[in-house]
Amino acid sequence: MGTRFFSLVAVASFFWLAHSLETHQLTEQPRLSSLLILLVSGISAFATSFFALWLPGANGRFDDDSGPLRVPRPNLPKKPRRYFLPMLVMCIILRLEIFHRVSFDLQCSRSGIEAWLPLVILLYDFISSRKARSSSNAEDKDYDDMGSTMFDAIGNWASDWATNSRVGLGMVTLAFTYGTYLASSHGIRSTFFCSSQENSSLVVFLQWIGLLLDAAIIIVLWRVISWARTTKIRLRTMSGILLASALGTGLLYGSSSLFKQSRPMSYHFRGLDSLYVFDVFVDGLTFSVFFVSTGLLLAEGSPLSLTGIVTFISGLLMALCNTVLIGSWENVTPSKTYFSLVLICLGFSFFVFLNNVRSVVFIHRALVVFFLALVTIAATIFSIVMTHKAQVDSHPLERLVYDARVEAGRWLVHATTSNSLAVAVQEYKERHNGRDPPPKFDIWYKFAKDRKSPIMDHFAQMERDIIPFWGITPEKIREDTRRVALEPDITIMKIQDGTANHEVPAGSPHKAVMDDLAEMIKPFAEHLPDIELAINLNNRPRVLAPWEDVHRFATAGRQKGLSRILSRRSAPAGDELTNSASPNQVIPRRDFTTVRAFREMTALTCPPGTSTRSGAHWDVRDFCSSCTNPHSQGTQDLRNWPLSQKLCHQSDLLRLHGFHTTPPELRPIQELLPVFGASKTDSYSDILIPLHHASERPSGSDRAFEMKRRSLFWRGSLDGHLAGPNSHELLRGGHQERLVHLANNASSTDKTTILLPSSTDTDRFAYEQVSTSELNALLPMDIGFTQSTCKDCNDDVARREFGVKPEADHDAADGQLMHQYVLVVDTNDGPPQDLLHIVRSASVPFQASIFKEWYSERLRAWIHFVPVDLRFHALHSTLAYFTGFNNNQGEIVNGREVKMAPRLEEGRWIAEQGRRWANTAIRRDDMETYLFRLLLEWGRVVDDRREQIGFVL
Ligand SMILES: *[C@@H]1O[C@H](CO)[C@@H](O)[C@H](O)[C@H]1NC(C)=O
Repeated sequence: MGTRFFSLVAVASFFWLAHSLETHQLTEQPRLSSLLILLVSGISAFATSFFALWLPGANGRFDDDSGPLRVPRPNLPKKPRRYFLPMLVMCIILRLEIFHRVSFDLQCSRSGIEAWLPLVILLYDFISSRKARSSSNAEDKDYDDMGSTMFDAIGNWASDWATNSRVGLGMVTLAFTYGTYLASSHGIRSTFFCSSQENSSLVVFLQWIGLLLDAAIIIVLWRVISWARTTKIRLRTMSGILLASALGTGLLYGSSSLFKQSRPMSYHFRGLDSLYVFDVFVDGLTFSVFFVSTGLLLAEGSPLSLTGIVTFISGLLMALCNTVLIGSWENVTPSKTYFSLVLICLGFSFFVFLNNVRSVVFIHRALVVFFLALVTIAATIFSIVMTHKAQVDSHPLERLVYDARVEAGRWLVHATTSNSLAVAVQEYKERHNGRDPPPKFDIWYKFAKDRKSPIMDHFAQMERDIIPFWGITPEKIREDTRRVALEPDITIMKIQDGTANHEVPAGSPHKAVMDDLAEMIKPFAEHLPDIELAINLNNRPRVLAPWEDVHRFATAGRQKGLSRILSRRSAPAGDELTNSASPNQVIPRRDFTTVRAFREMTALTCPPGTSTRSGAHWDVRDFCSSCTNPHSQGTQDLRNWPLSQKLCHQSDLLRLHGFHTTPPELRPIQELLPVFGASKTDSYSDILIPLHHASERPSGSDRAFEMKRRSLFWRGSLDGHLAGPNSHELLRGGHQERLVHLANNASSTDKTTILLPSSTDTDRFAYEQVSTSELNALLPMDIGFTQSTCKDCNDDVARREFGVKPEADHDAADGQLMHQYVLVVDTNDGPPQDLLHIVRSASVPFQASIFKEWYSERLRAWIHFVPVDLRFHALHSTLAYFTGFNNNQGEIVNGREVKMAPRLEEGRWIAEQGRRWANTAIRRDDMETYLFRLLLEWGRVVDDRREQIGFVL
């Protein structure tokens, strides 16, 4: 019973640990976490030792060993030496340090190296047994005759053979470890790159050293534990090892942080600190369960069968996951997947007999072998069927663009329903839980009609922005406005007696923006009530209120609208929800925010249970397909643009976007306060308002789409990408940095998956992996950074990494517009600066962004722009769809000729649609219309009689 119980526990806790590492908070402070975990598990192992009598095998031997008690165990190792214990502790400490070093540059590491562990242990076995054999003859194994099946008979025969021919064991171990290695090195890598400043071979070397250390730890532990007589002594020994390692790590950690400069402690955000303690505690306990059960298992079994079983289970799971992906874009090498699965199944089937493993976890080996045979047969059929299905009859983007057009037509009908005031009022009530439109709605309606606004009913963004404030009392909102205006870079726009005024002094860079806003309000100012607006003039959005608050207020806000139709009474005063902060409390101000604290604040804006909320995403090396699947629907293409801008299902974006990897210069406000701003991401609660960017460019010279170059163009500035304490991640993971690296500096081993016409039939397509640098040469791309414009910026590191390109590749005034396709991506602070500029031109914008502005909901993906996922994994494939390859006659790709004609017509259509729509729905008139409606809504929300004053026909 004992071994089965412990192996079940060991395997379960191993997978729990492997799984929880991805979602728990531990990785943000790796050293502290490992120290605490060792401590917790050491203490719990010690505590368990008092209950040793109740554990299986308490007398020092496991009771399912049916042989006579006093027979010496065949696999009893040599006696441990005295220096073994300190050596073990040293190995553990060193192993942890190597782990932290490799995790720090995880993007440079190679996956699958751990799979070789059984082979290393087998090597040790060979060497030590050769020595042992010369001194004494191998003892007979005690076979269990009772209930032995035919399988066992064969197995016994096989293990007899194995003792003679250790080569056999070596070969099968090699087979399934190699299979596991293949399976685990299969995945797609993310575009987070290994910078030239890192020594990637050092990281891989460290990984191999780590592997050797793992083997050493297991073997030494085995020898130590096997010679301890009772379970109690074993538990005490292990607890001692854990505590000594904790002490050692603590000393190392303490002494190294003495020499380092103290960094500002991160801000204590609510909720997460206790979560960290909880994670440490749970993982510590699990780790001790794992360590103890492994240790006890080791004492009875052999290191080889233990590591073999764990490697096999992980390998089999990975190979099965890969097999399921056959036929999708994520697995284009079905033969490799199949080969790895067969190696694992076949290798392990022989391994259980040759190494005399009687049961795997708790399943008899005969059953395991039978199961593996079934798996192999099923996988064979599945692979053949899915490989045939992998070829598609038409390019999926054709269908996608077509569907998008149909959907856009439907959307337009929905957005422009109203042709009379009565219908508009009706539509409004339907879309606002039965709430009446704000006062003066008729005047707004006429205003919008006069200005030929195409959008009369669809203001979803405005609704979302304002609804939480219906859950806060008007008095409190007015107070909050004045309070938040004291924050840096926030100023008040005061509308009183039909005029709009602000107090930004002349000479301030923000004066033009505020003047322009006042100018925009002027035409309808006489219809507005007296209100004050807090306007954010900083580039970054400000209000990062936790999800719980926003959700609570928004729910309360919606319910009021509902109760209003049910009973036409106004809600009694005083039952309104109040914000937790007292009115005249000063907002806690500490401007410096570390990237880590900022990320944690952002995580708090996601609902509990989502991947972003639950923890830090640390695996930057591998492509996160669970992050893209919701908005890509399991394909490579971006299929749901609005969803792709939401953060809560894409925890990896917290490390793949420059906005999340640069510390904000002003601390975000973690309270739901009324702040109006030009742009935000979905995490923020700012209210979007049309603001004219001071930096908006005048439209330069443009020409017809056909007259432009068939290429994709992008230029970014090196400003703000400087070397600094926080730039380690930015330099390797920032979205602009990844883009430039991908397009110019792909290494020889980098691969990109792209949809190509099949070799036999150009009307059929299939995904293939092509060397990224080869693709970069075949596709017309012109992407890079320009020289930084600021004088005293130290951009040496970035310049060396990415190189610099000239502003434009010719003398034309507006270089961007010389290209048919122009990439627009976010800056590190906000939305792309030139999106509207490109939409209005005859070029096609390729947009990669998480930011929104007031007009964002009016632009539709695949109609007005081409959406690009910020991971850039589909950039080549999408571009190739539009441009074809450089040479229309055909190019050699993957050793065969591929012809891919450009789709000029599709590109021209998108460019034209965008231009027309921008000149219809995103004009200055539309800004004013949006602003008018927003201010009417706002005027009502801050009015004490807001429940009564709605507009009724
Ligand atoms: C990356 O590519 C650019 C342009 O091709 C080049 O100037 C730069 O030196 C490259 N960087 C590295 C680290 O090789």
